[in-house]
Amino acid sequence: MKSIVILISGRGSNMDAIIDAELPLEIRAVISNRPLATGLKSAAQRGFPAIALDHKAFATREEFDTELSRVINQFAPDYIVLAGFMRILSAGFIARYPNRIINIHPSLLPALPGLHTHEEALKAGLKIHGATVHFVTPELDHGPIIIQATVPVLPADTPATLGERVLAAEHKIYPQALRWLATDRLELSASGVVRIQHLDVLETDKTTTLCVLKE
Ligand code: GRF
Repeated sequence: MKSIVILISGRGSNMDAIIDAELPLEIRAVISNRPLATGLKSAAQRGFPAIALDHKAFATREEFDTELSRVINQFAPDYIVLAGFMRILSAGFIARYPNRIINIHPSLLPALPGLHTHEEALKAGLKIHGATVHFVTPELDHGPIIIQATVPVLPADTPATLGERVLAAEHKIYPQALRWLATDRLELSASGVVRIQHLDVLETDKTTTLCVLKE
């Protein structure tokens, strides 16, 4: 079975969705750069090694990333899963784990990289918004896309209501992406395009469009 370490910074609802999905993946540890992250408490309560590594205790990004690597490597995971991890990782860190770091971003990449995506979506008058799970490369929020979900932008939306709708979609697509990873269905081409094998059913509901595997 493949193994992962999950990195978080806050509430950890994506982490919870991943744990709840009971994937054929071994979750070896949860690490937070914020010691008070509520997700860290939840991970510990659920029986996972939960480690706080306060980035404020390090003088530079590189020093933090070096220590983060050291801690991660103790668990020897196949993949590093960023679930609301709000630190930019240095190019040096990313280079240590080629095609082995996965992230979720609350927009339809390559649109709206960076922070405050729900505000930006409303400001730009987008009619469709969503979330993306992708492999991490040194260029922020630009790696090969594994899965996306769309949500409508409704006339009365505020960043908060839109964000809730996107978060509900995130909770569906992150476990799905990791299921594909766990079951060897992801193929990453040399040009950086992800293909999913045996993908032939498109299932939709009122708020999201998801690609799912035919069992
Ligand atoms: C999610 O919207 C994630 O995409 C973004 O930060 C939020 C984290 O939420 N990067 P949670 O900690 O998983 O609840």
